[in-house]
Amino acid sequence: MSLADFIKALPKAELHMHIEGSLEPELMFALAARNKIALPFKSVEEVRAAYAFSNLQDFLDIYYQGAQVLLTEEDFQDLAMAYFRRLAAEGGVHAEIFFDPQTHTDRGLPFKVAIDGLLAGMDRARTELGITSKLILCYLRHLDEDAAFATLKAAEPWLDRIEGVGLDSSEVGHPPSKFARVFAASRERGLKLVAHAGEEGPPAYVYEALDLLKVDRIDHGNRSLEDAALTQRLVREGMTLTVCPLSNLKLCVVNDLKAHPLKRMLDLGLKATVNSDDPAYFGGYLADNYLQTAQALDLTRAEIVTLARNSFEGAFLSEAEKAGYI
Ligand code: ADE
Ligand code: ZN
Repeated sequence: MSLADFIKALPKAELHMHIEGSLEPELMFALAARNKIALPFKSVEEVRAAYAFSNLQDFLDIYYQGAQVLLTEEDFQDLAMAYFRRLAAEGGVHAEIFFDPQTHTDRGLPFKVAIDGLLAGMDRARTELGITSKLILCYLRHLDEDAAFATLKAAEPWLDRIEGVGLDSSEVGHPPSKFARVFAASRERGLKLVAHAGEEGPPAYVYEALDLLKVDRIDHGNRSLEDAALTQRLVREGMTLTVCPLSNLKLCVVNDLKAHPLKRMLDLGLKATVNSDDPAYFGGYLADNYLQTAQALDLTRAEIVTLARNSFEGAFLSEAEKAGYI
């Protein structure tokens, strides 16, 4: 069996995927036409050509701009369904998806529009595609903690359908400590906690995510490897890292996939998983991330199975649900 077929046949969960980052240029144009919004690009090719980033901020600027075509619940449902169809086609069976409500409420959309549209898409994914999913609300870290508290308040009516909260957007200069109180409040409401840390930020940010935010998973975590004591702690605590190889390549976190730390992470005993982050912007969905990384790092099939197993072990599924997959 080819490596591509092996990866496709392997049941996999995706734990780090921003739904706004799955907006393909074709859908961006379709939604812009439907909503009568003018785009600053003439063609799909022109959009794709603009996807050359030298760091996280370069990408975020264009990603927030792209999200402006999303206006109605139907738009968010279509966005979610497009992602779930891709995931189903490549052997994904479960996804814990991020969304950025502040990106939408800050341009005047009611909180309800994004979340009800996404939940409708998630319900359809279960019935039409057999894919299970959970929703993680991310606070934008370039905004202040009061804005995050307002977002938590707006989310109150939906808390039974929100699995957890996360922390994303511009990392450097916005340490996890800035959000310690809103994470504590989120935890008190029974929400799971994750945070982007160590993507561009230093190991100190990973320590803060662990000690001050008390996260259940670290998103990215690459720079943890610069600190041996931190690495040992992450191994000891069995902390899941949601690693995103093609994202790391596109955002110049690594210069070459052959230099990606994923294999080193596995060798060290870290619970690493593979994820697509923002697949429409970074040139690959979940299986592409597995395949290109496996080829670049010469991963064995046993290592690929470990990565898939880690994705279920790190998921916010019950032990009984995990047992069905592992
Ligand atoms: N938002 C979407 N993708 C992100 C990433 N890779 N890092 C931080 N914020 C993000
Ligand atoms: Zn991310």
